[in-house]
Amino acid sequence: MNSFITVALILVFSATTLCQPHDPEMRKIVEECNKEHNVSPKDFHEFMEGKLATPSNDLKCSMQCAMVKQGIMNESGTFNADAAKAKMPTDSKLASAIDACKNEAGSSPCDTAAKITQCLMAHK
Ligand SMILES: *[C@@H]1O[C@H](CO)[C@@H](O)[C@H](O)[C@H]1NC(C)=O
Repeated sequence: MNSFITVALILVFSATTLCQPHDPEMRKIVEECNKEHNVSPKDFHEFMEGKLATPSNDLKCSMQCAMVKQGIMNESGTFNADAAKAKMPTDSKLASAIDACKNEAGSSPCDTAAKITQCLMAHK
């Protein structure tokens, strides 16, 4: 369950508004990436809650950073759907969301990370 995608989907699937990922490893990754890219935790969480439709480039890069640290995307912005699925609980809904979104491509690795995240949120 320690994946960025899992956290993204849990945030989206749950009715409650979570402002911090509960998993300590995930929280550390998000904090590091936000710091690296000068992103405020507030903006990051608003994006994860679907309240920020047009994320800044820094925010997109923080998403990409978190995906790279989770091992589900590489530096070039290539998303590894199998790695993402392997990190998730067995749930066909999540797996099919990943399949539907794995080919999303943006204008940069950061943009791709943001597009995949937004796609997953749209497939909840
Ligand atoms: C990312 O993965 C793609 C596809 O496997 C590969 O073509 C690309 O060279 C990789 N980039 C890096 C930085 O590893």
